[in-house]
Amino acid sequence: MSGGRTLIGRRRFPTTWSGILMIVVIICALLQLAFLSLGDSSDSGGDFNDSSAAILSMVPSGLHKFLTPRPRNLSHVHQNGTTANLIYRQALNISEMKRNIALYNLQQTVYNEDLFGSLQNDSVVIVVQIHDRITYLRHLIVSLAQARDISQALIVFSHDIYDEEINTLVQSIDFCKVMQIFYPYSIQVHPSQFPGEDPNDCPRDIKREQALIRNCNNALFPDLYGHYREAKFTQTKHHWWWKANRVFNQLDVTRNHTGLVVFLEEDHFVAEDFIHVLKLMDRTCKASCRYCNILSLGTYLKTYNYYGKKEVLRAMKQQSVVNAGQVQPSWSFQVLPSLYQHSQKVEITPWISSKHNMGMAFNRTTWMKIVGCADYFCKYDDYNWDWSLQQVSQNCLKQKLHAMVVRGPRVFHIGECGVHHKKKNCESTAVISKVQKVLKSAKRHLYPDYMTLTYVTPLKKQKIRKGNGGWGDRRDHMLCMGMTLR
Ligand SMILES: *[C@@H]1O[C@H](CO)[C@@H](O)[C@H](O)[C@H]1NC(C)=O
Ligand SMILES: *[C@@H]1O[C@H](CO)[C@@H](O)[C@H](O)[C@H]1NC(C)=O
Ligand SMILES: *[C@@H]1O[C@H](CO)[C@@H](O)[C@H](O)[C@H]1NC(C)=O
Ligand SMILES: *[C@@H]1O[C@H](CO)[C@@H](O)[C@H](O)[C@H]1NC(C)=O
Ligand SMILES: *[C@@H]1O[C@H](CO)[C@@H](O)[C@H](O)[C@H]1NC(C)=O
Ligand SMILES: *[C@@H]1O[C@H](CO)[C@@H](O)[C@H](O)[C@H]1NC(C)=O
Ligand SMILES: *[C@@H]1O[C@H](CO)[C@@H](O)[C@H](O)[C@H]1NC(C)=O
Repeated sequence: MSGGRTLIGRRRFPTTWSGILMIVVIICALLQLAFLSLGDSSDSGGDFNDSSAAILSMVPSGLHKFLTPRPRNLSHVHQNGTTANLIYRQALNISEMKRNIALYNLQQTVYNEDLFGSLQNDSVVIVVQIHDRITYLRHLIVSLAQARDISQALIVFSHDIYDEEINTLVQSIDFCKVMQIFYPYSIQVHPSQFPGEDPNDCPRDIKREQALIRNCNNALFPDLYGHYREAKFTQTKHHWWWKANRVFNQLDVTRNHTGLVVFLEEDHFVAEDFIHVLKLMDRTCKASCRYCNILSLGTYLKTYNYYGKKEVLRAMKQQSVVNAGQVQPSWSFQVLPSLYQHSQKVEITPWISSKHNMGMAFNRTTWMKIVGCADYFCKYDDYNWDWSLQQVSQNCLKQKLHAMVVRGPRVFHIGECGVHHKKKNCESTAVISKVQKVLKSAKRHLYPDYMTLTYVTPLKKQKIRKGNGGWGDRRDHMLCMGMTLR
């Protein structure tokens, strides 16, 4: 990670030190929470049994099928109906993949509509951005399957990898309406041309003068740290922008939809009452916070701990209702269970990309404002979608993004490994097991009837920030702008 781009810039999909630290902190926090709140004898302190069997034992047997990889036999999928002409084989070549992607996007098939009825204008739409981490995806699906009222929702899976095993998994969902969309400009189907890596693209670390001499494609457009484009780091932001545009503006099924759209990722995990909480937050917004335009269901538990005591003190000042006795250096031990004892607590706060990017929800009204600022999203030299959204909020929107954030998280991050980093323990199920235990122990505090609001005012004005780079190439700006639908 040489020079230029900050560590923070690498914090999301590419696993970073801060990312690792964060995850470690979350694990520790969850461990402590599990210690504290699990009084039952089956888990006698510290003996964390995260074997597959233990995980399965916490999942209703009817859902085991989502966790169990099946031998590949695709012949049962689409035996009839409009998608029968899709090509099914083990290894597709690129033109076949492109053909299937185009067909899926054209047909816009909604699975299970016959079972669950058509989408209402105020139904919850859940959009899940998926790369290739199927193990995490299986657990996300299991968590969604257990959510109350999921049968009225539509889940849109947005893929940037075409993979038959993932398709089969997604199409096996039988608890709500499901749809698949495929990001058409993926690296997978453009391996040696833009948006993938063209052989004549400038290498990341070449000097500008060298690049000009070499006359490589993007010689004129290094990022603000002097680095040239790395295709794999650009895809997530493009994909995010494309899918949001598509869901709000291109799908027949959502044409009349005015309700909430929830944004999840393949390595998230939801609490069973997340739709209940979402709707309650929505009602609370309409009654008590007209300027709130974004809901957030996941707090990074690290937010307080990560920055140490100073942040805790700040948090104390910000919360009118904090009992000072609770806030001590060993806060996670003391405070965390109270998150759920008072699970109806929500905060009203300016939206901050790094804190509120998980389990976000907003409606078409908010989206229309964001998309009106496409320039700010697409031309900001930062390859992180959430930092780019922050840029939109701070420098373009008349009314900035203002979030209502639930204190007891309803969306968890279970991915230990980013998209681009394959560590040894990527398939580790420890975090999943912890989240399951936390939620089990919090069970009687779920489904709150009302919410109490806490207003958080930022202590200091947000300063204008330089982007994290990775997004200097004009071709990326143009691709992003070209995907914008207004
Ligand atoms: C872990 O859980 C499984 C299934 O519940 C059980 O068979 C196994 O003995 C447990 N292992 C330990 C070390 O507790
Ligand atoms: C695949 O599934 C179909 C129908 O479910 C079945 O008839 C067929 O025998 C299976 N093929 C293999 C190779 O398992
Ligand atoms: C496809 O088959 C399923 C059951 O196998 C049936 O419910 C559905 O109506 C069929 N769809 C079409 C378009 O024929
Ligand atoms: C991909 O596969 C199809 C069908 O097997 C074949 O007709 C086509 O020539 C292949 N394309 C490439 C680029 O290999
Ligand atoms: C949603 O649809 C119902 C009838 O189906 C209609 O009465 C209502 O006005 C619609 N709401 C919005 C916000 O469009
Ligand atoms: C959307 O509303 C229009 C006009 O009310 C109606 O004709 C159309 O069928 C609706 N589309 C969907 C997908 O509900
Ligand atoms: C959409 O969200 C805005 C807040 O951004 C809210 O004022 C509006 O009532 C919402 N629309 C619907 C139909 O819920």
